[in-house]
Amino acid sequence: MSQSNKESRYLIVQTPSKEEHKLTVHDGDVAILAKDLAQVRLKGLTKDGKEVEKQVTSFDPGFMNTACCESTITYIDGDKGILRYRGYPIEQLAERSNFLEVAYLLIYGELPTATQLNTWKERIMSHTYIHVTLMDYMKSFRYDAHPMSMFIATMAAMSTEYPESNPTLTRRDLFEFDYRARNQQIFRILGKAPTIAACAYRHRIGRPYNYPTESFRGYSYTENFLYMLDRLSESEYRPSPAIAKALDVLFIVHADHELNCSTAAMRHLTSTRVDPYTAVAGAAGALYGPLHGGASEAVVRMLEEIGSVDKIDEFLEGVKSKTRRLMGFGHRIYKNYDPRAKILKEYAEKVFAEVGRDPLVDIAVELERRAIQDDYFVSRKLYPNVDFYSGIIYRACGFPLDMYPLLFALPRIAGWLAHWYESLREEKSAAKASIPGATHVMRARQICIGDIEKVFPTEEESISKQSITMDALKTYHSNLSKRRRAPHKDIA
Ligand code: CMC
Repeated sequence: MSQSNKESRYLIVQTPSKEEHKLTVHDGDVAILAKDLAQVRLKGLTKDGKEVEKQVTSFDPGFMNTACCESTITYIDGDKGILRYRGYPIEQLAERSNFLEVAYLLIYGELPTATQLNTWKERIMSHTYIHVTLMDYMKSFRYDAHPMSMFIATMAAMSTEYPESNPTLTRRDLFEFDYRARNQQIFRILGKAPTIAACAYRHRIGRPYNYPTESFRGYSYTENFLYMLDRLSESEYRPSPAIAKALDVLFIVHADHELNCSTAAMRHLTSTRVDPYTAVAGAAGALYGPLHGGASEAVVRMLEEIGSVDKIDEFLEGVKSKTRRLMGFGHRIYKNYDPRAKILKEYAEKVFAEVGRDPLVDIAVELERRAIQDDYFVSRKLYPNVDFYSGIIYRACGFPLDMYPLLFALPRIAGWLAHWYESLREEKSAAKASIPGATHVMRARQICIGDIEKVFPTEEESISKQSITMDALKTYHSNLSKRRRAPHKDIA
């Protein structure tokens, strides 16, 4: 915990043998340190009846109530529906800022001056080219490769391009003390990620890859991305400013969301000091999962399945009887309207003004209206989340469903890098102030519920004591391999 947290309050824990332990409650938040908990020791029995003394551990699968770092990046009040980056409300940032400015704010902690912003933008935009070996690598994927898989693999492959920036190959503390090296990776990753994403998209739709725009044209971050996605043979192609702005707002609202699964994965990976390309690829892998970055796609599929406004009641009955789930509703943290959903609902209309109204939005708006008046959803505090409207915007803009997680991952890279940057600073101050745990590699504990000790069996014993049947090894075989392995029988 930070040194400013004065140790003033205690939680008294009494063990079954009436021993009392005083656990410090740190001010500001009501957290106790796990290392204090470890001082409490309890007696227990092993399976074979031996008495053992063990330190107490908190057991928290899914990290429902465990903080693993202190952070100044994002503030969320889920009950009130508040999201702020570095203290600035998300609504104000969406209205008055742009993605690159927000990325700077997240990483460096302050809004940039005009000069800092120009330099920041210039540095990132001058790193948008990717090496020809990476383009060749991307071309070697199957024609129908998922863009997210291509992105993850190519981002990881990028680490091979910069051996001098790899702590495994140079020095362990490369990034802790060399802020220029740190910045260089940030510029490269933010600059090249949209290029890799655009190549993955072009690969998927069978069009040649585009190079980034020339910097003198002054395209914004999202304009350059749209240019690489959509330019055909035009030498002066410029995407619609309204669509570029809407994408910029989508990028802003997705940029950070404190320790969600992929950001936690980023902190976990970088705690080993692995290079940031590998870490970003790993975090993107976590985001790729359907329980994290896949919900916007699920919303579109759900709305398509409902099909028309007159089928909404029937669908909601299915949700209430728990045979269906209302995708894009509910959130682990927000027990109120997700502020990002409000912003996107407004931007959906702006996008429709450019590309035409997507009929699914009428179903979405009516579905939301009925759900937020229904006692089932009200009593469970279920409101629309960010994914309720983002998928409709992507669909209206013609993005294929498999691009949705990538459109989420791209802006979230800013948040991942901000957490990496912050953890490196923790590292530096931890060296001075000996903050418990901050410098450590992240490694959770487990509760071992298996056999503690066994003797390796003899051959006869291993066969007779076998509790796992051959069914455990069953798998699927494609028709192709069935054909290949078809038995040689005599033809009658
Ligand atoms: N539709 C219907 N019922 C729901 C829903 C939903 N979307 N979400 C929660 N519930 C019900 C749930 O059945 C439970 O009811 P009961 O008390 O009768 O058992 C109650 O509400 C509490 O739900 P929970 O599962 O304990 O809530 P959770 O915090 O574990 O789950 C969630 C959060 C996001 C996984 C869940 O709300 C959900 O599955 N939503 C749909 C998927 C979705 O939209 N995901 C995107 C989340 S936002 C992405 C981001 O921020 O990065």
